[in-house]
Amino acid sequence: MSTVAGATSDTPTPRYRLSQRILHWLMAVIIISALVIGLYCSYLEQGTALRRALLDVHKSLGMTALVLIAIRLPLRLSFGEPANRQPLGTLIHYAARCTHVLLYALMILMPLAGYITSAAGGHDLPWFGLFQWPDVLPLDKPLERVAAQIHEFGAYCLYAILGLHVLAALWHHLFRRDDVLGRML
Ligand code: HEM
Ligand code: HEM
Repeated sequence: MSTVAGATSDTPTPRYRLSQRILHWLMAVIIISALVIGLYCSYLEQGTALRRALLDVHKSLGMTALVLIAIRLPLRLSFGEPANRQPLGTLIHYAARCTHVLLYALMILMPLAGYITSAAGGHDLPWFGLFQWPDVLPLDKPLERVAAQIHEFGAYCLYAILGLHVLAALWHHLFRRDDVLGRML
């Protein structure tokens, strides 16, 4: 992240492009909802009507995230990120970069592992009751189990990294009082 030479506190905060900000917050709502519903489902008894209905919503949200990340990643790679007005320090800079890369990796891994779990297990792949996503995998129970384990492990990683990400955003805003949150608003 570079610093804008000669920038003063009167200079407006450089922000991510509008498309990047919209995708960030839209995906944040979708992914946090998918996480909460997925977590809740893991406590419900298998086969109940409530679990099935909630899992349908969960899968629909997750597949939406998969489509959106396919749009968001190329935008990020072509537009990059805005410059920073105040230097962040090497440690914070690399910690933030590392967290963002891991979040991008999980935003791809989680829906893919979820898709493979459902497709290889021969289960439904609904999108909000409107249509079914194509199932491109043959029935494969061992693959279903491996993908489900990756999905579950990925969820633990996401709780931890997302927790850090949100706490870091609050710390920047409330204690460091810098531009970090403003860059995404
Ligand atoms: C951003 C995307 C997603 C996130 C954050 C997410 C998160 C979670 C979480 C936290 C759980 C509960 C923990 C577990 O048992 O694994 C879960 C379960 C599950 N997810 Fe996802 N998921 C996502 C996408 C998907 C997609 C796209 C599908 C399928 C199309 C899917 C299918 C499932 C299924 C079937 C379960 C239940 C697994 C079981 O209890 O055996 N998920 N998900
Ligand atoms: C309440 C929830 C959230 C808050 C307050 C928040 C806040 C922020 C802020 C302030 C930035 C800009 C950081 C910077 O410019 O250095 C950012 C970037 C980012 N956020 Fe979030 N975020 C939230 C949820 C999420 C979720 C759920 C995800 C995905 C799982 C996510 C993934 C990312 C990624 C990958 C970036 C880097 C953007 C880039 O450089 O392309 N965020 N977030």
